[in-house]
Amino acid sequence: MARIIGGIAASHTPTIGFAYDRDSRNDPVWAPIFEQFGHLSAWLEARRPDVLLLIYNDHVTSFFFDHYSAFALGIGAEWRVADEGGGARALPPIAGHPQLAAHIGQSLVADEFDMSFFQHKPLDHGCFSPLSMLTRHDPWPARLVPLQMGVLQSPVPRARRFLKLGHALRRAIESYPEDLRVAIVATGGLSHQVHGERAGFNNPDWDARFMDLFERDPERLADMTLAEFASLGGFEGAEVVMWLAMRGALPAQVACRHRGYYLPSMTGIATAVYEVADTAPDAAIAERHREHMARETRGVEALPGTYPFTLEGSVRTYRINDYLHRMIEPAHRQAFLADPEASFEAAGLSPEERDLIRRRDWRGLIHYGAIFFGLEKLGAVVGVSNLHIYAAMRGETLEAFQKTRNTKALYSVAPAEKQR
Ligand code: FE2
Repeated sequence: MARIIGGIAASHTPTIGFAYDRDSRNDPVWAPIFEQFGHLSAWLEARRPDVLLLIYNDHVTSFFFDHYSAFALGIGAEWRVADEGGGARALPPIAGHPQLAAHIGQSLVADEFDMSFFQHKPLDHGCFSPLSMLTRHDPWPARLVPLQMGVLQSPVPRARRFLKLGHALRRAIESYPEDLRVAIVATGGLSHQVHGERAGFNNPDWDARFMDLFERDPERLADMTLAEFASLGGFEGAEVVMWLAMRGALPAQVACRHRGYYLPSMTGIATAVYEVADTAPDAAIAERHREHMARETRGVEALPGTYPFTLEGSVRTYRINDYLHRMIEPAHRQAFLADPEASFEAAGLSPEERDLIRRRDWRGLIHYGAIFFGLEKLGAVVGVSNLHIYAAMRGETLEAFQKTRNTKALYSVAPAEKQR
């Protein structure tokens, strides 16, 4: 079974990444940061986790206010570096762990955390700035499961909610059946404020006190309000509540193997390693938790002609679902209608995916893993009604299916004037 081998905490300022890229280790201003991160990378090199579950916040790069969520788990197969305005840093992509991520996602939802899930989004300095310092990347020695926290738009969940999320993370990881060694990395903080007349606020005394409480009395931190964190550590410094999710995933007793702090410019840069006793998770508890996770969908598999859309399926069929979803864009649907083969090629669809769309194989598309709501968009574009699609999925003629309805009306999701 999977087990958590420890927690790492690290600030995530862009400057950490730039110091790495410029190899500023001999510059006296940046040397302390290399020294600090050296302890973290040495620990990772010695303990060799298979997976890093990395808790961070995006900085209005890949997550914007058109749809903002509190807890977003990355379920994708690969993670790339984001361009934050001046071009992306030259770091290779890092592999994700879709199977573990899907298990964690299902477990967290079963434990009443209403998560959001993402894939195919590049990750910004919140993740890659510390990550590039933590391990070599030629190739990356571990897989990455990112957990993005929406801490920029109020309301933000309470500090205690982050700690409880950590408790749930531990149940999730320790019930994953495969033998994986997982390290939890929390990023962000410490004290800083980057906006308004209070920009430049720091509080090294509070930062030291925060790290004391974090190790020995996280319950105290969980009782603090956002305003108290902002008052003591600066408004943006209140992102340290993210650390509590890592702390909650560790047992009450942790051994601090390293703790460092340096204030070069705007942000108190902290690093820490917390080791836990290497004990195997209890197999009976893990089994009971998996039963709990499966409860909500138990029995669905017995329903004939029913195909739940799952996190695993969402990752596996992202390409074709993305292609069908983009039928909401006029340019995409015009390109498809004008030259379908060129459009398939541009989207990198597989031969099987092209064939399913070419033949309008509605039942085949569902069996393949396309979601119905993509099918009805394609139907609207090619002038096929929803009723045609329903009948085809059932393996019936339209007339036979219509006999089972009270009305023979045909409709699609195209505007009324475009329906035939
Ligand atoms: Fe941040």
